[in-house]
Amino acid sequence: MKIKQTTPPRKDLLTLADTTQDEIHGWFDLARKLKKRQRAGKSHQLLAGKTLGMIFQKSSTRTRISFEVGMVQLGGHALFLSANDLQLGRGETVADTARVLSRYVDGIMARVYKHSDVETLARCATVPVINGLSDYSHPCQGLADYLTVLEHKGELEGLKLTYVGDGNNVAHSLLFGGAILGVSVTCVSPSGYQPLPAVVETASKAAKRTGAKIHITADINEGVAGADVIYTDVWASMGQEAEHAKRVEVFKTFQINAQMLSATGKKDTVVMHCLPAHRGEEISDEVMDGPRSIVLDQAENRMHIQKALLASLMV
Ligand code: CP
Ligand code: NVA
Repeated sequence: MKIKQTTPPRKDLLTLADTTQDEIHGWFDLARKLKKRQRAGKSHQLLAGKTLGMIFQKSSTRTRISFEVGMVQLGGHALFLSANDLQLGRGETVADTARVLSRYVDGIMARVYKHSDVETLARCATVPVINGLSDYSHPCQGLADYLTVLEHKGELEGLKLTYVGDGNNVAHSLLFGGAILGVSVTCVSPSGYQPLPAVVETASKAAKRTGAKIHITADINEGVAGADVIYTDVWASMGQEAEHAKRVEVFKTFQINAQMLSATGKKDTVVMHCLPAHRGEEISDEVMDGPRSIVLDQAENRMHIQKALLASLMV
């Protein structure tokens, strides 16, 4: 199997903002090949003998398991490193952790609170660093999501994805990814909870090159009309637990339910959620478990796209 390298080769993936359409499609192609090989039981040990160090400052189900299983399928292995159990939890710096880990492992994946921590890791590590979620972005999620849309819709350019909810890390990655891939992204969020203006500006610039439209609104009906995809995420992200009650009040009309789904006016709108979901808050059971929901395909594709990423960055 041949792995296509970008020129100059990419070292890290911290956000989708600095990726290109060609690069993302290269990862999609490889992910689809690896997914087929895995399903056919054919070996694809592209990272035999390699080790991925996985630093977690926050909880995870999908990211931890999909990276770990993905590394095993590629012939390597992964180390789960809870930040609390590392000396990081006792004051060793992120920079020193990056320098030391680089002497042991072939790549680092990190889930952090502050995006600057993953930037420091990337600057100080001599091995590739992948952002497994920061407060600013969740690039692996964005890649898995657009791969899933591509599989379901057969194309990306010209589609409309409407994200309904908090303008958070996941929303940012959808904005960057959509703009680069030619998917128009509308973000429907209450005032005060919209995506960061700098993210919207960067995405809008990239969208000019692909013909996609980036639109931010608080108007649900306007935002979901004509959507090929409607997407949501929790109203209070990890680290915002203390704001949960207040956010439930602010967001209560922003739930994806049968009524909102019918407001798209399309029979084939699909519903996405990065998971974990707070059922009965941002999404109703009926929609989450309904025929338009593709949330489990999304979760599965985390593994396939990350295998493609790992294989391109760590070979
Ligand atoms: N979607 C996602 O990143 O899930 P986890 O928090 O379970 O890793
Ligand atoms: N926005 C959520 C995503 C979880 C995968 C969070 O940061 O908690």
